[in-house]
Amino acid sequence: MKLLIHGCGYIGEVHLKTVLNNHLCEVALCEMNGQRRKEVAEKYGIDETYTSLDEALKHSFDGVVICTPNFAHKDDLEKCVKAGLNVMLEKPMSSTLESAREMRELCRKYDKFAFVAYCLRFAQPYQRIKKMVTEGKLGKVFGIHASVAGKKAITDAKTDYRTKRALGGGVISDFSHEIDYALWFGGKPVKNVKCFGARAIHKEWDVLDTAELLISCEDDLCIAIHMDFLQPYFGRSIEIYGTEGAIRWRDNESIKFYDCKKDKWIEMDSAIDWDDVYREEMEHYLHCLQTGEKPMIDAENGFETFEVIDKCVQDAEKGVF
Ligand SMILES: NC(=O)c1ccc[n+]([C@@H]2O[C@H](COP(=O)([O-])OP(=O)(O)OC[C@H]3O[C@@H](n4cnc5c(N)ncnc54)[C@H](O)[C@@H]3O)[C@@H](O)[C@H]2O)c1
Repeated sequence: MKLLIHGCGYIGEVHLKTVLNNHLCEVALCEMNGQRRKEVAEKYGIDETYTSLDEALKHSFDGVVICTPNFAHKDDLEKCVKAGLNVMLEKPMSSTLESAREMRELCRKYDKFAFVAYCLRFAQPYQRIKKMVTEGKLGKVFGIHASVAGKKAITDAKTDYRTKRALGGGVISDFSHEIDYALWFGGKPVKNVKCFGARAIHKEWDVLDTAELLISCEDDLCIAIHMDFLQPYFGRSIEIYGTEGAIRWRDNESIKFYDCKKDKWIEMDSAIDWDDVYREEMEHYLHCLQTGEKPMIDAENGFETFEVIDKCVQDAEKGVF
């Protein structure tokens, strides 16, 4: 099999390394920035490189990994599905609700999938928590609290899309991993959304740098998420409340599960091996390409998450801009 990595910035390089280090398949690169293209091609010894997606798609690939800034996702996806390709698409789906909806329609019309790469679902601790919730270890789950914070996110990227509305930036869309996994853990349809946000530090931006999200779901589930681009350290945390137990986890500590029946806290290993996360994510994509199976997160799921992102942004920005 042969993949095209389109957009070789921060995450494009991560996916390239994953493919090469694990000998998963052949790979070519597409990167519009000449200096960056040369740097990455030389570093990893890639001979086949392209300057544009149009040029690359004149050649044959089994799939494309779209790693461009959010605002470019729709045009990139459209070109790929029209070329008959199933794609892996970096999160979030897009930069506007309208374009995200168009992307869902394109996948339906051309009968192609877009695997939206919410990679945390491939990390062991998240899978462990999902399994415990699904197996009913917490009884009826009525509350999920999550947080993600850190200014590192702004400086990771090679371009400044995270801080600009026109490029699809803002803390809510960028940290939408939290929305994706909280809805995945809960497994219930969304009913309503409320959100408060601010430009607490970055007054010059036209997007939010901090937000508090409240999502109500069917079956009495409430989700609360804190996000910010401000804290000096980067960290995530999760608390889940159920009638039979609770889970508490900060990402540099062990997962703690309170078992009501035993009346005690049980500690579980929660180390994340990021190489494994990205390998399992890429293997999932390749498996879906080979078998034609539906990916774990497709354009339908990516759109549902984007609808929540959009509602939160709309609500939070009232009075801020
Ligand atoms: N899953 C994750 O954990 C994760 C982590 C980081 C980023 N992402 C997502 O991956 C995507 C890329 O993020 P990144 O941080 O790697 O970005 P980046 O700025 O580091 O890289 C983007 C690359 O795309 C290229 N590019 C191609 N077409 C472009 C266009 N039309 N306009 C501008 N640049 C174009 C740029 O030259 C650049 O090299 C985003 O959608 C982001 O949300 C996901």
